[in-house]
Amino acid sequence: MKTHFVRFLAVLLISALIVPALDAREPIYARKAMVVAEQDLATEVGVSVLRSGGNAVDAAVAVGLALAVTHPYAGNIGGGGFMLIRMADGRTTFIDFREKAPAAATHDMYLNANGVPTGDSVVGWRSAGVPGTVRGLALANKKYGREAWPELVKPAVALATNGFPVSKWQMDSWRRSSPLLSQFPESKRTFLKGGAYYDWQEIFKQPELARTLDRIAHLGAADFYDGETAHILAAEMAKNGGLITLADLQNYQAVERTPLEGDYQGYHIISSPPPSSGGLGLLQMLAMLNGTGYDKSGAGSALSYHYMAEAMRRYFADRSKYLGDPDFVNIPISALLAPAYVDSRRATIRPDRATPAEQIAPGLTAANEGTNTTHYSIVDQEGNAVAVTYTLNNGYGSGVTVPGAGFLLNDEMDDFAAKPGGPNMFGLVQGESNAIAPGKRPLSSMTPTIILKDGKPFLVLGAPGGPVIITSMLQVILNVIDFGMNAQDAIDFPRIHDQWKPDRLDTESTVSPDTVAQLRHMGYQTQTADPNEKARVEVILISAGWLQGAVDGRGGGGKAEGY
Ligand code: DON
Repeated sequence: MKTHFVRFLAVLLISALIVPALDAREPIYARKAMVVAEQDLATEVGVSVLRSGGNAVDAAVAVGLALAVTHPYAGNIGGGGFMLIRMADGRTTFIDFREKAPAAATHDMYLNANGVPTGDSVVGWRSAGVPGTVRGLALANKKYGREAWPELVKPAVALATNGFPVSKWQMDSWRRSSPLLSQFPESKRTFLKGGAYYDWQEIFKQPELARTLDRIAHLGAADFYDGETAHILAAEMAKNGGLITLADLQNYQAVERTPLEGDYQGYHIISSPPPSSGGLGLLQMLAMLNGTGYDKSGAGSALSYHYMAEAMRRYFADRSKYLGDPDFVNIPISALLAPAYVDSRRATIRPDRATPAEQIAPGLTAANEGTNTTHYSIVDQEGNAVAVTYTLNNGYGSGVTVPGAGFLLNDEMDDFAAKPGGPNMFGLVQGESNAIAPGKRPLSSMTPTIILKDGKPFLVLGAPGGPVIITSMLQVILNVIDFGMNAQDAIDFPRIHDQWKPDRLDTESTVSPDTVAQLRHMGYQTQTADPNEKARVEVILISAGWLQGAVDGRGGGGKAEGY
């Protein structure tokens, strides 16, 4: 009896010590439908569209437009992205509304006379690709939605007209980005209040953007690509040395592509095809990990991170050489996913030792060669699922706000290899397949993904973060499928990132020091991950009759809401 009591006390004491460390956040649960986005008001717009009879695609359109108002860091009409749709009747599609290089773009446009990259691909008028968002959302609405377009634009018009209270994160973010935004008078006036700055809870209104959105509500995408907005944008481009012309806007089309699909442990993965590099990456890395026993030491073990990092290195080496815009380059997708090829890559992984980056090269033989974004996930009552990632590239994109039209322009041209073989803003080394050419789309890491179990949506996810998107999503998927975590635990779990070059393994500060020490012992050059380079994965997981919505705590906010 006495020993029992002592044991009981010991357990109490131990629980008191460990419970705070295990104080996990719960996902948001709902029965019928769920919206997860990086900004609360945009999530609420999505839920109200669903409640009033719209489907997940309608909600995705309205959330995309609302984020363009309430999350100017990444939400946009001046950028581009991808929408992955899986309708409850089994139809799938991938809407590619990625920006395109303007007709006047050239291979070496960002190199100076000595062949050294200038900063022009990252900041200012010349860094912008032809925006695709409005065309992409309009296409989604027309083909897969059922609500009238103006109804879906209205909430965004109202948010821009009436304004909304500035969050703490938004207030800080504008201050942090002031070196970029204050270079452009219209951005300084719009977002920095001319240098006086918006305060926490102050109401932020955007009358120019409201007028632009109102025209888009009434005239559709035609206004942005051929109407008043197009004319304003083209005139400002000409005035400021930018490349985008009225003809570039008129010629821009969003396109539907066939998603990439594959299987892992009985789950069916539907993901993003090129010009996203992510779907191929996920499928190749999952196949490479399959059968390695990477998971036998448990989540968070040095062994599991080691195998993941080795798969990441091999995939990013392939990415550097073979991937680009499928309308311009021949991408050997089936060769890169062929079981024999993946087996040969896996066979070079040593169980106890890191393979240095210089010993890894893009792996196909000649014979078989053939900082900002935002993600949201939506599932509706009928079981339609939508995953959208869209972006301005950098936070606030090029820094340029179009005078008279109130929206920020992307700096997506930096996703091209300005100098093939050299690194871009994300340190990504890329080759000729992703070199600049007129009308070409730059390669992307955005990877909206939908995973099915028994033919029904199981996981809907995606993230911003550049190359970290692909490696973070891999880990979230493994955390759910192999380690049995719920949606929130799966995204909160400590992550690593490896992109082959530089030869470095980034470990989040939450990875245990023991594990980091073991990884170093195996030969990895580790570095604590830069908090600004983390992917914020937004997830819906459907299991046992419940939808779980989870927002990534690495971000500045966001909300999962369902009913
Ligand atoms: O398409 C891409 O891969 C990049 N433009 C994404 C940029 C990004 O995710 C930055 N976000 N934090």
